[in-house]
Amino acid sequence: MLILGIETSCDDTAAAVLSVQAGPEPAEQGADTPIKVTVLADLIQSQAATHSPYGGVVPELASRRHLENIEPVVRTTLSQAGIGSKEVDLIAVTQGPGLVGSLLVGFNFAKALSLAAAVPYVGIDHIAGHLASVFLGRQTPRFPYLALTASGGHSSIFLVESPTRFTLCGRTRDDAAGEAFDKVAKLLGLGYPGGPEVSRLAAAGNPAAWDFPRAWLEPDSCDFSFSGLKTAVAQQIRRTPPAHEGELADICASFQEAVVEVLTQKTLAAAHRLGIEQVVLSGGVAANPRLRQYLQGVAERDGRLKIFMPEPRFCTDNAAMIAMAGYFQRHQATRTLDSDVYSRSGYLLPPESASGRHSHGPIAQG
Ligand code: KG4
Ligand code: ZN
Repeated sequence: MLILGIETSCDDTAAAVLSVQAGPEPAEQGADTPIKVTVLADLIQSQAATHSPYGGVVPELASRRHLENIEPVVRTTLSQAGIGSKEVDLIAVTQGPGLVGSLLVGFNFAKALSLAAAVPYVGIDHIAGHLASVFLGRQTPRFPYLALTASGGHSSIFLVESPTRFTLCGRTRDDAAGEAFDKVAKLLGLGYPGGPEVSRLAAAGNPAAWDFPRAWLEPDSCDFSFSGLKTAVAQQIRRTPPAHEGELADICASFQEAVVEVLTQKTLAAAHRLGIEQVVLSGGVAANPRLRQYLQGVAERDGRLKIFMPEPRFCTDNAAMIAMAGYFQRHQATRTLDSDVYSRSGYLLPPESASGRHSHGPIAQG
């Protein structure tokens, strides 16, 4: 099956073509689906240069750039995959959450292509896309597993019971982990997106130079909070502005260590409590080399835990992950054109149960 993925939820215009060869359907909910996935083409037109001078994404500029980029990006992707639009079996497109003006460009383009090429399409929740990204790699987890997904828009822990069944265990109460990286980068004048630059500088710094706060919250809480950490870094920079590259590196390394420690320890504590031995990392922050190394190190010392991480290019926003989630949600595909984008994910609705866990269906409307 050939799947065209389209992603325009924030500031990257992305398209990808996947070839997915499926084995027999899983016998029961949660069973493994044997699939062979080949990424035939995977294109990302970054808008980083447009937004970097502003230290963050400017929504109005983002939608204008998407409008310019979407047609050439999709056309080039199809041509790199060596197929025409009519050979596509399914179009998977991000429906939400994200910037509405940006989402509308990709979503309406997908609907128009669906009509013109007579191909069904399926709207994908961006978070489901990040959760599906691990299936683009050679090593894939078995259900159920625990997934940490940390990006610029959200930071959450999910219990993943099947390709379409995710139970929210915890989420950030304020800033997302990637947002904290971006805000610290802005404070240090490092441009946008800040994560890659902070982690590059951190590699030469001393992570113990500054003892920045870690918000563990209540015992057993799977929630995160990064706004206090960001404020502590801001105060530190105001008190003692870094005088040279070495001091800048120390601030970056100390900040990064605080984020990495909290993300790792909370995810692993949740895995222990639930008796889960497989942990998946996803979202833009999962591209962070220190987070990958730290998590891997803890797992190796533990002996039983197994960690799965998509390649860094599949951690940050991309359309291959949206196509992958599209495969899992292919039975919801439609040709009707009356659906709309949404800005908030149903997967992140406040937990209803006292244990802090709540289940949502595969298609989120917000
Ligand atoms: O998943 P993503 O590409 O977009 C959203 O869904 O938000 O994540 C982007 C976020 C940004 O905040 C960016 O600074 C962060 O991921 N990020 C990183 C790294 N690469 C990207 N954070 C820390 N270290 C990195 N190497
Ligand atoms: Zn994302």
